[in-house]
Amino acid sequence: MPESLPGSREPSPELLTRLRRLADPDGFLPFDRYWEVVQFSQGVGYFEQASSPLGPGGDYYTAPSVTPLFGATLADQLLAYWHGLGRPAQFRFVELGAGDGTLAAELLDRLGEARPERAAWEYAIVERSDTLRQAAVERLRPVAERAGIEFAAPEVLGSEGPFRGVVLANELLDTLPARRLRRNEEGWEELGVVVDQGRATPASRPLARPVPLPQLPACPIGATLEFSPEAEGLLREVADHLEAGAALFLDYGAAESRWSSVPGDGTLVALRQHAVLADPLEAPGRCDLSCFVNFTRVRAAAVRAGLREREFRPQREALVAWGFVERLERALQAAPSEADRVRLRLLGKNLLLGFENFHVLELEATGEDLPPGA
Ligand SMILES: C[S@@+](CC[C@H](N)C(=O)[O-])C[C@H]1O[C@@H](n2cnc3c(N)ncnc32)[C@H](O)[C@@H]1O
Repeated sequence: MPESLPGSREPSPELLTRLRRLADPDGFLPFDRYWEVVQFSQGVGYFEQASSPLGPGGDYYTAPSVTPLFGATLADQLLAYWHGLGRPAQFRFVELGAGDGTLAAELLDRLGEARPERAAWEYAIVERSDTLRQAAVERLRPVAERAGIEFAAPEVLGSEGPFRGVVLANELLDTLPARRLRRNEEGWEELGVVVDQGRATPASRPLARPVPLPQLPACPIGATLEFSPEAEGLLREVADHLEAGAALFLDYGAAESRWSSVPGDGTLVALRQHAVLADPLEAPGRCDLSCFVNFTRVRAAAVRAGLREREFRPQREALVAWGFVERLERALQAAPSEADRVRLRLLGKNLLLGFENFHVLELEATGEDLPPGA
């Protein structure tokens, strides 16, 4: 686990050793490989730190840490999927990238209230970080028990084989390692870093690795294109295991034209203690890294893998369609004081207007060969 140095931006010596070991012979690491090491490397990556990176004491907020109304609204939608499938007795909710379990706790409470007595539901979290997974498991076991819902924390999505249910991921795709390519006069180059004397500095090489389909778009010279092969692979994994049901991805991102139509440096952002770092390479392993999700490629990967797209829309629109405004209104009516009402209104406004560029991708696996309720 990285030592806890709240003020330090220096990478740990162990992290630097790993970066050097995984670099090409000339010292170059393509950006996605660098990202993989600094964010996820066992014991030393950013997500392995002792304290949660999420919420007020961390580096950034996600929607579940803004207000429980987010999870409550989402729970209604999860239940709508269950109804849509004919209310099967056996149903599995799988949350990918569950973080510290804040969203899961809210969902379990709500699902527990709605669960018919004889229904055998399971809620599974798949969380890559050992520290976050352990914290979430400790927190969620009693919540699940109260809700009468089986709880599991498998290492991978497909540990139980194909299933019927819902897959859910909030702000996971933007955190997965992204490749960054730049168009120059000769063609495409791969952006990455070189690690030297304890520092990571930007570097590039002519593109030498294959790019999975679809083909790269025509771009003006100087354009930077970002996409995550791992995010696209995750969509294939979901399609392989979700026999019938829905998959819901909530994340910030844009269509590929966001990158391909104009020259620019891309969307990479490093966050630390709720501030954007001027240099995203300045604190390897000690800040959050994220890129806009390339939704053009992610959506194409989902469809190629056999999932059907139900909806793709701004998160604000999805929340409104799922009853967020009515839920907020009910909470306002129940609020004990004017100060509570003001606080609730601010949180509601933050969720509807503050999560700019967030989208919801709703997919379904039709399971047409299964009898309803099976
Ligand atoms: C930005 S956080 C979001 C956490 C939570 N979903 C929320 O909304 O607060 C992304 C989470 O995904 C986890 N993660 C990253 N890659 C993963 C993977 N391949 N499988 C499962 N979890 C992953 C990270 O460890 C981190 O906890």
